[in-house]
Amino acid sequence: MHVNGLSIRTFPSPVAAARTLARDVARELTRNPALVLGLPTGRTPVPFYAELAALYAQGRADFSQARTFNLDEFLGLHRDDPHSYRAFMQRHLFDHVNLSARRIDFLDGAAGDAEAECLRYERRIARAGGLDLLILGLGVNGHIGFNEPGRALTAATHRTRLTAATRRSNVALFERRLHDVPREALSMGMGTILRARRIVLLATGAGKARTVKRMVCGAISPALPASFLQLHAAVEVWVDGAAGAALSASAT
Ligand code: GLP
Repeated sequence: MHVNGLSIRTFPSPVAAARTLARDVARELTRNPALVLGLPTGRTPVPFYAELAALYAQGRADFSQARTFNLDEFLGLHRDDPHSYRAFMQRHLFDHVNLSARRIDFLDGAAGDAEAECLRYERRIARAGGLDLLILGLGVNGHIGFNEPGRALTAATHRTRLTAATRRSNVALFERRLHDVPREALSMGMGTILRARRIVLLATGAGKARTVKRMVCGAISPALPASFLQLHAAVEVWVDGAAGAALSASAT
């Protein structure tokens, strides 16, 4: 199904979507071993990372020439902090595949000069030739990366203040202590995201249904950052039945 230029694929379950996406990435790696991947954190991609690790263990995915850039990181957290997104990626993917550490790029939440760090990251992405395939999750409030809803969006990688809703949705990473969730983060900007050659947004679960509907069928607005994906020529929205429920309701 195509709506507003977005191609929508519906899967019977989150695991089915994760498995198909992992195979898709493995195929892309075969075609282009030096693939530049953009990667998300969150609960949604966890089964996808497990599937990628399984494909690697079976000798069906080779990351030896690949590069990765993660979307975002909490401000103030060192990469070794177990609550950092870097540590999350280490646990769920990097420790399980043959990606060499020097091919893993990450925003440094502990950088002394956050603005310089954002510039550095933007340049690294450009020097790598841009992102070939960017996988995105979707915040319940419509954020992608940490591009939060507001009156305006920022194009480049930037420092950003997190909304209360986003801090609450990340609380599980901090042993449910809301007080410990950082108030700021560093994130790829909307321009950084829209320059990726191919984008797959993964959304699963009933909690995302309303946001998916607004992203796909609503107006393009900074009040729902993910709606800007309608402007990109190669975005695929991959949902399970629950996250896509409001879409099929409108299609019939
Ligand atoms: C987090 C991340 C996003 C992620 C989103 C959804 O705050 N910064 O990159 O896509 O929230 O998370 P989940 O997949 O847990 O719903």
